[in-house]
Amino acid sequence: MAAKDITGESPAHVAIIMDGNGRWATARGWPRLVGHRRGAERVRSIVEAAPGLGIRYLTLYAFSTENWKRSTEEVIGLMTIFARYIQSEAQRLSAEGVRLRFIGGRERLDKKLQKLMAGIEARTAGNDRLHLTVAINYGGRDELARAARALAEDAAAGRIRPEEIDEAAFARRLDTADLPDPDLVIRTSGEMRISNYLLWQSAYAEYEFTDTLWPDFTPDELATILSRYNRRERRYGGALTA
Ligand code: IPE
Ligand code: IPE
Ligand code: MG
Repeated sequence: MAAKDITGESPAHVAIIMDGNGRWATARGWPRLVGHRRGAERVRSIVEAAPGLGIRYLTLYAFSTENWKRSTEEVIGLMTIFARYIQSEAQRLSAEGVRLRFIGGRERLDKKLQKLMAGIEARTAGNDRLHLTVAINYGGRDELARAARALAEDAAAGRIRPEEIDEAAFARRLDTADLPDPDLVIRTSGEMRISNYLLWQSAYAEYEFTDTLWPDFTPDELATILSRYNRRERRYGGALTA
């Protein structure tokens, strides 16, 4: 029998590290924030195309726990873009059946932004066509530390016994408790690193890297990447199928 070397179907959960906005703008002699604005426009077209490409879950890295190191101007500019995105897309996302959620620590975010985030999560909670998750102030290590703290609190309060702590108990305390693990992680801009993204969840994800800067990333390129993914065989530690 010929080797079965294809997954044969679209990845249900695609996670993207949207990188390269700054370089895209700098190359044109424009301020970095112009690149971030173009990047946000890209999000719209990718979200629109995702269901047609067989994607049910799309998780986008928008701001990492390390991105606070950037200038105040850039950080505030990015937060403003997030707030505007939520406000301008609310109607469209609702109409298109998109459920929008956020992962990452919220306390450090502006109260008004937190309110907008909670509002759109509630407004789109009944949608099921596409599960869009945006990672803001997200870091895999921070998420794991928060989950460990939650487990310790539960153990100290007698809600869980140490011997009951297993992978499932841990996963239930992650920000992604309600999401399946990503099948495919894509990073744009040519960098070959994961920058603290979905560390636990990507244990068996496939990875794709493209040199394209995020503001230039198109639904067509996404489709090409998905067709490459379809030719991969995922083994999860098992043996190659004969
Ligand atoms: C990705 O683009 C967006 C964020 C990290 C917020 P960058 O801003 O990192 O762009 P480059 O990597 O500097 O080009
Ligand atoms: C990763 O990009 C974070 C996001 C895309 C939001 P960075 O540009 O922050 O990552 P590094 O610093 O190049 O690793
Ligand atoms: Mg970058």
